[in-house]
This record gives sequence, C-alpha cells and structure tokens, in this order.
Amino acid sequence: MTREEKPGPGITRKGLLQAALIAVPAATVLGGLPALARTPNGQTLEPTPLNCDPDDLTHDQIEGPYFKPGSPLRTSMLDGPGTRLTITGYVYGINCQPIAGALLDFWQADNGGNYDNVGNKFRGHQLSDPSGAYTLTTIVPGLYPGRTRHIHVKVQAPNQPILTTQLYFPGEPRNSTDTIYDPALLMNVTTVGSERRATFDFVLNVAGSPPSSPSPSPSSPRSPAPSQSPTPSQSPTPSQSPAPGGTWAAYTNYAVGARVTYAGLAYVCQIGHMSLPGWEPPNTPALWVRV
Ligand SMILES: [Fe+2]
Repeated sequence: MTREEKPGPGITRKGLLQAALIAVPAATVLGGLPALARTPNGQTLEPTPLNCDPDDLTHDQIEGPYFKPGSPLRTSMLDGPGTRLTITGYVYGINCQPIAGALLDFWQADNGGNYDNVGNKFRGHQLSDPSGAYTLTTIVPGLYPGRTRHIHVKVQAPNQPILTTQLYFPGEPRNSTDTIYDPALLMNVTTVGSERRATFDFVLNVAGSPPSSPSPSPSSPRSPAPSQSPTPSQSPTPSQSPAPGGTWAAYTNYAVGARVTYAGLAYVCQIGHMSLPGWEPPNTPALWVRV
C-alpha cells in the first residue's frame, strides 16, 4: 500500500483526485464511453463508481500450487454444482482511470474444495471491456484444509506486470485463522435469493486508459499521474519493451500489431500483453489473430 502524499495542509492526494474526478463530467472521465452497469442482465444501470482509491493498490498474494496456464477464454465457469456467484467490478490504474483490455485469469476450487489440475473446470480468463469492467459467473468455491474460502486471480493491464492475488468472502469463520487471508481483498458480497453477488475493483500500479475524447482544456481538473515506483505488492515486469516479433515466446511483452510465428503459423497481436506459458497464440484468440 502506498503512503498518502500530502500536497498541502489538510489536503490529501486522494482528496484532490476525488475532487477532480467529481468535477469532471462523467463523459469526460470515461472519454465518452458508456457508464456500464454491474449487472449482466440489463438491469438497472448505475453511474460509473468513483470508489477507486489510488492509495489502495490491490495487494498481491501468493499464487499457490494450483495455477495452471492455458485457461479458456470465458466469463462463465459454471462447471459443477454449487451456489451461483456473480462477481463484477472494474480494473483501474493508479490514477483511477479504467483499464480496458486488462487480462483477468481466475481459478478456484469446486464445491467440494478440489481444484481441477487436469482439465479447466473452474478456470477461465477474460478481458476487461472498454470501461474497465469485468463480470465472472461461477460458484462459491468450497473449502479445503488450511485455507479460508477464496478465489485466485491474475490481473494484467496491457504491457504491464501481472498482479497475482486472491479474493475473499466476508463472514467466513476461517478468515481469522488463515495466515494468507488479507482483509483488504474482501469482496462485497450480497445474497439475492439463492445466489451470491459480489463486487471487487482492482487498482493496479499502472496508468489507466486515458480519455479518448474530448481533451480537457488546460484549466480542466485532471487526475494526477503520481510518479511512483512499483511497490512490493506489485512486481515489475521482466521486460518492458514490446517485442518486435519473431517466434512467439513466453514472458515477453507484445504490443498491438506485433507479428509472431508459432508452430509455423503467423499471428498478429490484438491486445498488448505480457505472454505467459499457456497463452500461446492458438490458445488465446482474444490476443492473437492468424494472418
Ligand atoms: Fe487456493
């Protein structure tokens, strides 16, 4: 977590930022993008939330032993019985601008507390939409020995470091005994009928998507872009420069338009990202298109 920088007596960076965001019309903040609802079924639209706190970068967590690369691209992973759970939220940058095209890779235990280490049950990745929003439909994960209830996720803004973390449920008895548990990673969870609905917004230590239009006038309040080195909670990327192409390789930053070959076939990058094992072009159609 970063420390607040105090620009002046009684004025916090957070306060300045929130004042700036409130002062700017929503369409300007979002660059004319629609303020998306959290609900996936066309229910009541909500204004874009201003609950991003740049002083509260999302904490990282250990990956654990059950991550498996190559998860399918999907927003629903109802792969077995259990209490239906819908998680919605946004991915923000440090300046509270939304991050479009952020990769979110979720994995969790099934209702019985078991991970699918052979197939891809309860594993899936998706990309945040142009407003930075994401929606995951899944089940409440089961418990397994030594841990409280949790969902694993990796979040990566295009061409930026990967944040590996876990999401937790309030009111779980094991939250008080699990040494990995972090209350800063609690989701807001409500019960609606027989289902659970949760929200969680990620704040990454990267700049968010700049407004596309209109450009604010020089006198318009703007979100500050604090100069900040990576914190221990969000590790630096191993390679910062976009790869020019060549043969596809893991742990490489690829920019939009980068051309690579893989297994003798040519692909063009659609979304800037850092590649991981399992994210080979044939496995990630959202990232690579054959040419
Ligand atoms: Fe786990």
